[in-house]
Amino acid sequence: MPLRLPARRRLLAALAVAGAAHAAPTVAADPVLNLYSARHYQTDEALYSDFTKRTGIRINRIEAGDEALLERLRTEGRNSPADVLLLVDAARLWRAQVDGMFKPVRSKVLDSRIPGHLRGKDDGGGAEWFAVSTRARVIVYNKATVKPEQVATYESLADPALKGKVCTRSGTHPYMLSLIGAISEHLGEAKAEQWARGVVANFARSPRGGDTDQIKAVATGECAVALTNTYYLVRMMRSDAAADKDAVSKIGMVWPNQQSWGTHVNVSGGGVLRNAPNREAAVRFLEYLASDSAQAYLAEGNNEWPVVPSAVMKNPVLDSFGKFKADTLPIAQVGRAQITAAKIIDRVGWR
Ligand code: FE2
Repeated sequence: MPLRLPARRRLLAALAVAGAAHAAPTVAADPVLNLYSARHYQTDEALYSDFTKRTGIRINRIEAGDEALLERLRTEGRNSPADVLLLVDAARLWRAQVDGMFKPVRSKVLDSRIPGHLRGKDDGGGAEWFAVSTRARVIVYNKATVKPEQVATYESLADPALKGKVCTRSGTHPYMLSLIGAISEHLGEAKAEQWARGVVANFARSPRGGDTDQIKAVATGECAVALTNTYYLVRMMRSDAAADKDAVSKIGMVWPNQQSWGTHVNVSGGGVLRNAPNREAAVRFLEYLASDSAQAYLAEGNNEWPVVPSAVMKNPVLDSFGKFKADTLPIAQVGRAQITAAKIIDRVGWR
């Protein structure tokens, strides 16, 4: 996603202020927080203004795609004005962690509200990042050509019976790296590679497009089976557009691996940057994101689930899905597993 210019202008103005504050540290300035966010949902707007109302801390933000934000942070280096970085997918959060971007946070609020398996690396000094919402990676199928029992597991996507029927986005995308990484953690690298080879052999077409494109291709019959993050599917299910309604009527969804380790769950999340000029405000912001109201906003804005177990959210489509067994592999481990996943996709040509 390209940089949003108004947001960028706001940040440039903020940078000028931040620079001035550095030059004269004794001058008191309004408390401020510089946020780099790869989230881009309208409801997040309400979230930020609510934080300012509660704390008096103004938020300057840059919204851009994950890669653009990471690139920007690398370029800015130690002089970056950024305090908090919000990203989507454990693969990207882990990458930022390995690049040394975060400084661990020890917070009673975060430790008590965000489950341990939904936090980044913690060597005892606090977690490097925290998940703020979750999404599941599920299988969608064409109801006319496939029965749900045929695609009950991720493993089934490699079943020769599905030859010429499977569509996925590129294996190099973080959503795929995380899933393949998780599968490798469960099956071991050799079996995961064998599986990946089987999936590639089943392709209906070479990987292209995003998750929504896979859903549409399943609806038109170009593919019979595909993988998608839940929020893309839910967005389509809540859409009033005739084309979306028509597509949704032709597809079914499966929670994969309910009889084994559970459906792969990923996250959006954030951490406090190593050189954050406003660290205290940054920690307060993360703590705010773990509040009940922020959790509902965060999740609802993108049809995701809260990470805080006690947080309640109303979403008719997600509610209609009911409960499912989610993989509880620690999300930090999923992030790290992308190294193995990248090797696997190279070897099997999942491009
Ligand atoms: Fe996405």
